[in-house]
Amino acid sequence: MNATIRQLHLETQLMHGAYEPEQITGATAIPIFQSTSFAYKTAEELEAVFAGRDAGYVYSRIGNPTLVGLERRLAVLEDGLGAVACASGMAAISAVVLGLAGQGDEIISGNSIFGGTYSLFANLLKRCGIQTVFVESTDIDAYRDAIGERTKLIFVETVGNPKLDVPDIAALANVAKEKNVVFVVDNTVTTPLLLQPKTLGADIVIHSTSKFINGHGNAIGGIIVDCGTFDWSSPRYSQLSIFYKRAGNMAFLAYLRNQICRDLGGCLSPFNAFLMSIGIESLGVRMERHCANAMRVAGFLAEDRRVREVRYPGLSSHPNHAVAQRQFAGRYGALLTLKLESKAQCFKFINGLKRAQNLANLGDAKTLVIHPASTFCRDLTEEQRQAVGVSDELVRFSIGIEHADDIISDLDNALAQV
Ligand SMILES: Cc1ncc(COP(=O)(O)O)c(C=O)c1O
Repeated sequence: MNATIRQLHLETQLMHGAYEPEQITGATAIPIFQSTSFAYKTAEELEAVFAGRDAGYVYSRIGNPTLVGLERRLAVLEDGLGAVACASGMAAISAVVLGLAGQGDEIISGNSIFGGTYSLFANLLKRCGIQTVFVESTDIDAYRDAIGERTKLIFVETVGNPKLDVPDIAALANVAKEKNVVFVVDNTVTTPLLLQPKTLGADIVIHSTSKFINGHGNAIGGIIVDCGTFDWSSPRYSQLSIFYKRAGNMAFLAYLRNQICRDLGGCLSPFNAFLMSIGIESLGVRMERHCANAMRVAGFLAEDRRVREVRYPGLSSHPNHAVAQRQFAGRYGALLTLKLESKAQCFKFINGLKRAQNLANLGDAKTLVIHPASTFCRDLTEEQRQAVGVSDELVRFSIGIEHADDIISDLDNALAQV
């Protein structure tokens, strides 16, 4: 089925990809299998499933039919080999990194990434003996120069959050391929609607499905998609060799599901997978509207003298506008930032907003606003804050799908109070 589904437009794949009405009842919404375990009539049958001789579910930390529905949808949308769902975006990132790197290894990451990911890489990984080499996110040569014998992956976000810089994914993929290192792309902010990282050479794609994939701010989740492009027999990843012998090119997915995610335990709940499977169906129209609205808001703010600076990859003033234009086919996402004169002004502005909600999330259908320095980046050092592009004067918006005129009037009124 997937071969034909994958020939359809993405908007159609969102509706019909990888789920057909359930066979017993004909239910068109994916059923919620809210069950911890799955029973077998005989000990022999359960043994065969555990041994991998027969297909079947065992325990929902390892696999669950509702989760598989979501995993297949994401695998189709990212044109991947398969996917593994996780409890959150952070759980997905942790599983990939801890699966590929161990004590004495290194990973390379762009320095302009989500604060939580930065903290994981800079702090916890260090305590596990894994060194992260942070490089300027858009400096391709810096990634190349940083690769060594013990480098296990290159990590980048398609649009750095909240700096909103745009690394050249195709150029980075070439660097990773030259050295046979796995290239991991966090596509949370752009979604497959703006970019399928595999088409530019990514090996693994990660999403925090808590954001646009879900779209309604009501569930936390994450997903790991193996694009099927990396040769898992590579001696650089000897921990995968037994999985390669058993599962060939499915080795990484089998390793993630049957060892890394099983042992770390960050599994997605079936109910959250259900919410995300429903949310994903409207991703196409939502992204169109998010992007159109954000472009209008960015244009409004760029003309407004009360605002010191506006950052949006769709503006020609953005330093990576040309890369964004090429990479995202003329759409630039929902995130934009603006700068005022001080933290006090930012707080006054946020407090003056009537409809934009002041909260720690992005990718909700509603317009969201946050002051990064005092919230999700507060644990970063001054140097780290500079790397992720955060200062006290910065406000981040995730522009929603309301009518653009109403979003603009909300911002306009709040700016008048600053
Ligand atoms: C780009 C990006 N990746 C990953 C994450 C982490 O996702 P989660 O909150 O689902 O753990 C976030 C959270 O904001 C994010 O913005």
